[in-house]
Amino acid sequence: MNQDTVSDGSADSNATSVRFADVLEAADRIRSFIHRTPVLTCAAISDRVGCNVFFKCENFQKSGAFKFRGAVNSVAQLSEADLASGVVTHSSGNHAGALALAARQFGAKAHIVMPSNSSEIKKSAVREYGGLITECEPTLASRISEAARIRGETGAVLIPPFDHPHVIAGQGTAALELIEQVPELDMIVSPIGGGGLMSGTCLAARALKPGLRIVGAEPVGADDAFQSKKAGKFIPQLAPDTVADGLRTSLGQLTWPFIRDEVDEILLADDLATISAMKFFWERTKVMIEPSCAVPIAAIINHFSKSIHNDSSRKFPQNIGIIISGGNVDLQALPWLKER
Ligand SMILES: Cc1ncc(COP(=O)(O)O)c(C=O)c1O
Repeated sequence: MNQDTVSDGSADSNATSVRFADVLEAADRIRSFIHRTPVLTCAAISDRVGCNVFFKCENFQKSGAFKFRGAVNSVAQLSEADLASGVVTHSSGNHAGALALAARQFGAKAHIVMPSNSSEIKKSAVREYGGLITECEPTLASRISEAARIRGETGAVLIPPFDHPHVIAGQGTAALELIEQVPELDMIVSPIGGGGLMSGTCLAARALKPGLRIVGAEPVGADDAFQSKKAGKFIPQLAPDTVADGLRTSLGQLTWPFIRDEVDEILLADDLATISAMKFFWERTKVMIEPSCAVPIAAIINHFSKSIHNDSSRKFPQNIGIIISGGNVDLQALPWLKER
């Protein structure tokens, strides 16, 4: 793999370097490493939205998030020599733990550059999976330069969190499974941070069910994909402000074209709605999810709630599939406790 073609920045591009065939190959490659996660339903939520809602529970995935799919698909394609040099990434979130775990399964070292203000829970997950943490200043520039320094010193291979064909193909396997598990879906919803999960979702959905409506969800305080789509050009996310810590990132060179060309619509949710949806989901399903995956739940409750089903000018979905992207929550810092 030529890691040097992978940039940390973002720009307009027509990159199509990842295809549905890559998602199928990824599914075969990672099958023995991942969990085929279950799909749950919750009558209270379906009732509130006014249609059947299916939750693809990637919070039950290894490392607690879908990120393990892309990480293990990337590490599994490294040569013996690359594995001997190890891997490196910079991430404050779920990619960090996912990559540390994936690398451990292949006997490779994982150097994880984490901003000094990363949550203790995410840092201890990385350590538990055998990752070697290097702390840096909480700026993108510092993260990139630390990762570059480690690459220079160790020869470690950079595995970025979203803007890489192997990562995108791996993430696409979550939607691939969901569509197999619930063939009657007429809408699929994924949260958008850097856009890796959504790009993979587009590849799987367009190939398997071309008529399926593909919907993204973003926080109001980090709505770069929504703004970029509206403007028809890439707009970076400056100064994100949201409780959904996995969704604060800008899109990438590979992911922006998927959002621009394949996503039908992006729905937004503010933090109050997100926290309330997260709490509602915990209470009713007894299943732990993190704020980033409460964003799509809040967004569909806002947009399709029963009360607006009387609007005959709008076409409402019957069967919505939502990718519940992760469940790594700091139990000492639950967002509804912070509100007090
Ligand atoms: C739980 C969770 N959901 C969604 C996302 C967004 O994924 P992507 O950056 O591929 O858009 C992330 C990213 O870290 C995440 O951790």
